Amino acid sequence: MKKNRWMAGLALCCMALLTSAPTQAQELVNGQLWMDTEGNHINAHGGNIIQYGDTYYWYGENRPYRGFTTEAGVGVYSSKDLKTWKNEGIALAVSEEAGHDIERGCIMERPKVLYNAKTQKFVMLFHLELKGRGYEAARVAFAESDSPTGPFRFIRSTRVNAGIWPFNMDKKAQQAAQQTDARKWKEWWTLAWRKEVEKGMYLWRDFAGGQMSRDMTVFIDDDGKAYHITSSQENLTLLVSELTDDFLDFTGKYNMVAPGGQNEAPCLMKHDGTYWLICSGCTGWAPNEARMFSAPSIWGPWKQLPSPFVGTATGYRNMPANKTFGAQGTYIFPMNGKPTFMADIWNDRHLSQSLHLWLPIEFDSEGVPVINWATTPF
Ligand code: GAL
Repeated sequence: MKKNRWMAGLALCCMALLTSAPTQAQELVNGQLWMDTEGNHINAHGGNIIQYGDTYYWYGENRPYRGFTTEAGVGVYSSKDLKTWKNEGIALAVSEEAGHDIERGCIMERPKVLYNAKTQKFVMLFHLELKGRGYEAARVAFAESDSPTGPFRFIRSTRVNAGIWPFNMDKKAQQAAQQTDARKWKEWWTLAWRKEVEKGMYLWRDFAGGQMSRDMTVFIDDDGKAYHITSSQENLTLLVSELTDDFLDFTGKYNMVAPGGQNEAPCLMKHDGTYWLICSGCTGWAPNEARMFSAPSIWGPWKQLPSPFVGTATGYRNMPANKTFGAQGTYIFPMNGKPTFMADIWNDRHLSQSLHLWLPIEFDSEGVPVINWATTPF
């Protein structure tokens, strides 16, 4: 009898916990695990957020607890308040078909979704590495859906801008690039090698087959035109490429940013008419100092400025600003009226457990972005 009452009490307690926990808006604390409404850490990394109607959708890499390859696909979560996130499952699933571009065991990274108002479709672009080939394929992939939560339909993967010169590269510069020969350079990082990179040595090496595309983001301008920004040419040079009106292809108009600068994890925003690009250096999963560029037009000229990060991550391993507080950017999204830098604190032993870091972007008296550590994003 006593035991029964005890059991009933325990059951009531569990029910109360189960019914109350999911509806409670949690405080998101930077540098800690962020739970979804089921109490699991949000497994959406390297991704982005869109708003559709009164709902926010957060897309990201669904990573396994162990290992580096993609076993499930791209995950999606929904929220009405940017704090309470419901797991909506896998938006784009890996294929079970052997030899398929997104066969289980491939690597799907940095997925970004855009809503196309003209076609009323949700379009996903992501970095794809083919199964069993490490990071050598360096492709961008497209998928599309009628619903924000999917299922997204895989369309194709490709290298970018095959056989096309950057639109503002003049004839003389094109000729200089054609004189380079990447096969000759066994030793990297010498002054002479760097000069060749700046001339477009890797642009020319990959000219016929298409340019590499790894870490990437997307950006929609005020006029509705969308752009793909990617780390190309062995992660040495960024490319900004215009997308077609349906966002499912490239128009062929593109430009290089910071040739030889070795930037990745690009994040782009426009503020008061100026374009701001915040990137990281290339140190794999380990954090490094962020880089910032600004331009009066998406086509440049891009000018490099110091990193916008200042201060120290109090409460998170005291990671300093010159290590981007331990994180690497993925997207800039306006949250509660403020552009907010979304980043991942990678956990390379357990990628699914990588932490999220969202920080509001402030502007100094000259309108230059400044990003301070904050315990909570809002
Ligand atoms: C990082 C990159 C990640 C992932 C990782 C693999 O530099 O930003 O998206 O590709 O390398 O080592």
